[in-house]
Amino acid sequence: FPIHSFQRALIDWFKTEGRDLPWRKDRDPYKVWVSEVMLQQTRVDTVIPYFHNFLERFPTIDDLASADEQTLLKAWEGLGYYSRVKNLHAAVKEVKSRYGGVVPKDKEAFSQLKGVGPYTTGAVLSIAYGLPLPAVDGNVMRVLSRIFLIEEDISKGRTKKLFEEIAQRIVSVDDPSSFNQGLMELGALICKPTNPACLLCPVKDFCIAYERGREKDLPVKTKG
Ligand code: ADE
Repeated sequence: FPIHSFQRALIDWFKTEGRDLPWRKDRDPYKVWVSEVMLQQTRVDTVIPYFHNFLERFPTIDDLASADEQTLLKAWEGLGYYSRVKNLHAAVKEVKSRYGGVVPKDKEAFSQLKGVGPYTTGAVLSIAYGLPLPAVDGNVMRVLSRIFLIEEDISKGRTKKLFEEIAQRIVSVDDPSSFNQGLMELGALICKPTNPACLLCPVKDFCIAYERGREKDLPVKTKG
């Protein structure tokens, strides 16, 4: 697999065609973290106004750490999955007390915070700090299942690990942020669940499913 040509094609496309989303304006790890937590179970269009409002009310880790839970839940109202914001609150308090308010750059340290799993770790540390880590969510699994024609059931926990191993092998060490966001953006704009726009895809020449006309058969998913 021509990793470097693939990375170049994906990153160049992301830089020219990627959306100007509010959390892409700077690399403040706190803002990236808030955006990734909101985006985990909620669509981009819904998240945008909440993201602005949340950061207006809680502009820094210190502001969030010292907020009371009721105020916090109020700012989250309508987003759902309230354990996300409760966990984020506990996590930033820990960052304040244990790391002086600085989001830890270390993978093990960051991933031990409340509510932080492999996806959040990879997304935040690659986007904010440029660490070459995989950031695999459902969209990224769909993209990778097509590129590499992987027919494992994505509903199985073991399959997510398989995709994380693949993503770890192909992530750009020069620009992991654009690479990971490029995979997410590809899943959102081109490599959609139904009717993927393969003719517009910047990496169609690398895609085994496209080559074989199998893109609509993937990913394989038994549940949900
Ligand atoms: N979904 C999850 N993370 C995202 C991001 N950083 N940009 C767009 N969509 C996303």
